[in-house]
Amino acid sequence: MSILKVAQMGHPILREVAKKISEKEINTPRIQQLIDDMIETMREYDGVGLAAPQVHEGLQIAVMEIASENPRYPDEDAVPTTIFINPVITPLTEETMGIWEGCLSVKGMRGLVFRPNHIRLEALDRRGKKISTEYKGFPAVAVQHETDHLFGKLFIDRITDFSKLAFMDEYKKYHLDDGESDLE
Ligand code: NI
Repeated sequence: MSILKVAQMGHPILREVAKKISEKEINTPRIQQLIDDMIETMREYDGVGLAAPQVHEGLQIAVMEIASENPRYPDEDAVPTTIFINPVITPLTEETMGIWEGCLSVKGMRGLVFRPNHIRLEALDRRGKKISTEYKGFPAVAVQHETDHLFGKLFIDRITDFSKLAFMDEYKKYHLDDGESDLE
């Protein structure tokens, strides 16, 4: 396995719509290797998720893992290593949740983004089998953030109040208490 280079904001691949992949392609050594490398890269940089365009592959593959000991998100619900391919998200509520999001492709920044806090994810797993899972709270936000990457979007595109976009030091100094509030 290897740790891959992470594309930073401004790299055009982060703005492209990634390609769907077939069950047959998923089960090739190249894609299986890519998935393993994405998991290793996500862990190396303490990310809770990573999408293939972030490692310069324009394919609809995302990985997610929320370990309870993740230093970035210590209090959130744990989610086991999850691979989702060709995802389709359906919001299951009008209720939104505000989370200060960060991204391995937008280094050193945090921004407050509101998203539906209960969704259904339909996708293929790493063997090409269909999955359909409901997520609530922080994991629901993480799934939406990663899926956005597969459609050329970054969390900064979702910010509605740019006074809530901050560098890490300023986030810690001035905004630690503003998070997790509901919009409505
Ligand atoms: Ni990201």
